[in-house]
Amino acid sequence: MAFSIRNLVLGVTGGVAAYKAAELTRLLVKAGVGVRVVLTEGGAQFVTPHTFQALSGRHVFTNLWDTRVPNGMAHIDLSREAGAILVAPATADFMAKLVHGTADDLLSTLCLARECPLIIAPAMNRQMWENPATQRNVKQLRQDGVIILGPDSGDQACGETGMGRMLEPEDLMELLDAAFQPKVLRGQKVMITAGPTFEKIDAVRGITNQSSGKMGFAVAKAARDAGADVTLIAGPVSLPTPAGIRRIDVESAQDMLQAVNAGITLQDIFIGVAAVADYHPLQQFEHKLKKDANILHVELAPNADILANVASLPRPPFCVGFAAESQNLLDFAEQKRKKKHLPLLAANLVQTAFNSDENELVLLDDAGRHHLPKSDKLTQARQLIAHIAKLMQHGNPTTPVKHIDQSA
Ligand code: PMT
Repeated sequence: MAFSIRNLVLGVTGGVAAYKAAELTRLLVKAGVGVRVVLTEGGAQFVTPHTFQALSGRHVFTNLWDTRVPNGMAHIDLSREAGAILVAPATADFMAKLVHGTADDLLSTLCLARECPLIIAPAMNRQMWENPATQRNVKQLRQDGVIILGPDSGDQACGETGMGRMLEPEDLMELLDAAFQPKVLRGQKVMITAGPTFEKIDAVRGITNQSSGKMGFAVAKAARDAGADVTLIAGPVSLPTPAGIRRIDVESAQDMLQAVNAGITLQDIFIGVAAVADYHPLQQFEHKLKKDANILHVELAPNADILANVASLPRPPFCVGFAAESQNLLDFAEQKRKKKHLPLLAANLVQTAFNSDENELVLLDDAGRHHLPKSDKLTQARQLIAHIAKLMQHGNPTTPVKHIDQSA
């Protein structure tokens, strides 16, 4: 996936979480980002410049008076080249400096002399974080347009537990990238279904499918990154909950239907990515069935079609369906779109879509077909979200309420 920033200044201030900045540097470089590390005096007490130099492949800056910079203006040159400055970890003291515009070392001077966005990842003891002075500073920094990522809550180096841990490098990478996505769904409420459903036969057996939830979770992240308020209704999958997303776990299609119905009237957009089982066993056994030599007959009854139900509401949200087909992809998908009266449907091949990290969607709408070249699922999801925003912006009608054939 192409990272949204090409060049970054990474400021490292004096906290024990500075060790995480080393891993962050490695991940940024791996993602193709040019990283210039600026260490404060305190930061250099925790991790040496050599570590960052080896990981970034570039000189590390520690001093406002660095003679390697020909014009003697490292604070100007570094910020001019950067797409953003990220300070991780940002100590309570450094945040206070930012609030007051103090410029008494290279990093604080750089932050004051910048034109690019400033992002900070606070890291401190929980009492320092909760202190009214720090909270006042957080508020002021937000008002000044500084993007604050984290902190997280959990075990701290001081032995206490609470809010103040710096986010893990992988989470910071994700949120940093997210911060630079266009906010095309700002203020919209989006509900997404993801993963398979599990239709119970007995205490241990059931009917399910191979959906991993990856596509649905990617769509949820892309909607969040576009500024939406996201509710993710997930069948049984083993994926972690993406930061900033409300997740409701369900098991069966009936559970999923109930969870959708409970919140759907508040939504602006509904995206059905889940591979919902079309049938459930008519009879469910509380205890494990004993094996014998006879053929086991399981009678199956159809499940309600969640997406079709939502699309037939008196005031439906903007409804988007998915269709996975193993043959005649575009014809079968278009038939589904028409039957469910959807303004947009994303078609994908069973063979490439299920349980893989990549996908290749074809978006079907009233204007025709839009092919998204094969890429990772988050890139596909971002293109889908951009397409939804475009259709909504151009006044595409929400799902028309007419006869809905629920047999598709
Ligand atoms: O989870 P992954 O491993 O990443 O795989 C992603 C995926 C292949 C599951 C996903 O990209 C996908 O294609 N999901 C839809 C699967 C499908 O073919 O669904 P369907 O044809 O049964 O249903 C069509 C649409 O109606 C879907 O939006 C579905 O969520 C919805 N539906 C279907 C049945 C039902 N009872 N309720 C529904 O809401």
